[in-house]
Amino acid sequence: MPSSLSGSAGAATVRAAEECTAPADCPGCTSAPLPVLGRDVRVPLVTGGEVGYAALDYAASAPALQRVWDDIAAYAPYYGSVHRGAGYLSQLSTDLFEQSRETVAGFLGCRPDDELIFTRSTTDSLNLLAAALPAGTRIYVFDTEHHAALLPWQRAEDARVEYLPAPRTPEQAVASLDVALHGAPKGPKLVCVTGASNVTGEIWPVRELAAAAHRHGARIVLDAAQLAPHRPVDVTALDVDWVAFSGHKLYAPFGAGVLAGRADWLRDAEPYLAGGGATRKVARSGDELLVEWNSGTARHEAGSPNVIGAYAIASACKALTEAGFDSLVTRERELLDRLRDGLADLPEVRVLSLFGAGSARVGVLSFVVQGWNSSHLAAALSAEYGIGVRDGLFCAHPLVRTLLDTEPDEPGECGAPDAAPGERSLNAVRVSFGAGTPEEHVDRFLGAVRTLVREGAAWRYRTEGGRCVPVR
Ligand SMILES: Cc1ncc(COP(=O)(O)O)c(C=O)c1O
Repeated sequence: MPSSLSGSAGAATVRAAEECTAPADCPGCTSAPLPVLGRDVRVPLVTGGEVGYAALDYAASAPALQRVWDDIAAYAPYYGSVHRGAGYLSQLSTDLFEQSRETVAGFLGCRPDDELIFTRSTTDSLNLLAAALPAGTRIYVFDTEHHAALLPWQRAEDARVEYLPAPRTPEQAVASLDVALHGAPKGPKLVCVTGASNVTGEIWPVRELAAAAHRHGARIVLDAAQLAPHRPVDVTALDVDWVAFSGHKLYAPFGAGVLAGRADWLRDAEPYLAGGGATRKVARSGDELLVEWNSGTARHEAGSPNVIGAYAIASACKALTEAGFDSLVTRERELLDRLRDGLADLPEVRVLSLFGAGSARVGVLSFVVQGWNSSHLAAALSAEYGIGVRDGLFCAHPLVRTLLDTEPDEPGECGAPDAAPGERSLNAVRVSFGAGTPEEHVDRFLGAVRTLVREGAAWRYRTEGGRCVPVR
């Protein structure tokens, strides 16, 4: 057993990440604050040869931190069942799982009575909360949200959802929520809000929205899927009732997510999934099963827990904390300025923004280019420059349509199915980065966009299955 895990899982410590070496053709590639996997992966170019892959789609899924990978690799031989085994490795794995819960709760600044449930993702976390709402809860949500935060509430029993229109400033968001809640009838109310937009990267006024919610007796859940990888999220300081995020956006891509916050609604709700682990006692009485459900986190964690996923998130939380958000944020701002300044030099490029050019953002930015179909641009960035970005409506269709000013019934599905290369774009390109991004990737991206916009693509593309692909 490695010393890092010896004694008990509680003694698990973090090993130093391996020495980070720069690939030969990219001397600047070690300039990122935290080493991630994949920095030396090379991909073929349609124009011939190959190049180091520039992952600029962190907002979809960030690469694993080297440190997370090392921690998981060190633990993997000791992997065992959680909460259901008498063997040493089961005990160790159970310890590690519960210790991970504490680490993540600490990272999130949870209150002593909060519960932290390991889920599969942000989507899963918000669906879990939706399933736990008291009957008749009124939900208030801006129509700018990611679908994961927009859609689960419709399913809640007796729920009434009020969709608030896209605000144009952070202050307008708070005022609009205030007005909506002011006229709200008595009874349970929940506000769901994003911390940072997955489309514009803009940071929402979470603390102020939480204050508005609480002023009117409502609770608030924070979708921190995009905020947590970039900024400290402290539920106590922000005074939010719940927070949800995904491991795979926080450099921990092992299939786990988190819902953390107030215990009462979760305690009173039916278990999210019915099955082993959620039950204290099951007995048969004639044609019926008499079930005593567990309380606490076990109530909503039926099935064998994902200990690797939970440990990976805990490891990422430790790595981010040790690196220090102050320096990560400073460095991210520098990269963002570089990106925005570079795009501002191209009059054909329009950066999408809800709150205006000066608003605070994380490292996520979407844009359209006059005369370019976004799917075409994204395909050319990949095929000719080895740069991975995303194009589409980013699972936030109402928001992107608002920002692009297109009618809701115009075609605009991801990849703009009917648009040939060069047609007007009904969707956008998103570039996103994080603690593993070297400056070289941002510079290569800017150079590539400049060349594509000024000189056009070097290759021919066609639409296939709704996406632009290189003609081969
Ligand atoms: C703001 C936001 N919320 C929720 C989600 C859903 O996350 P997941 O797909 O991990 O469930 C995403 C994913 O892109 C997101 O960006």
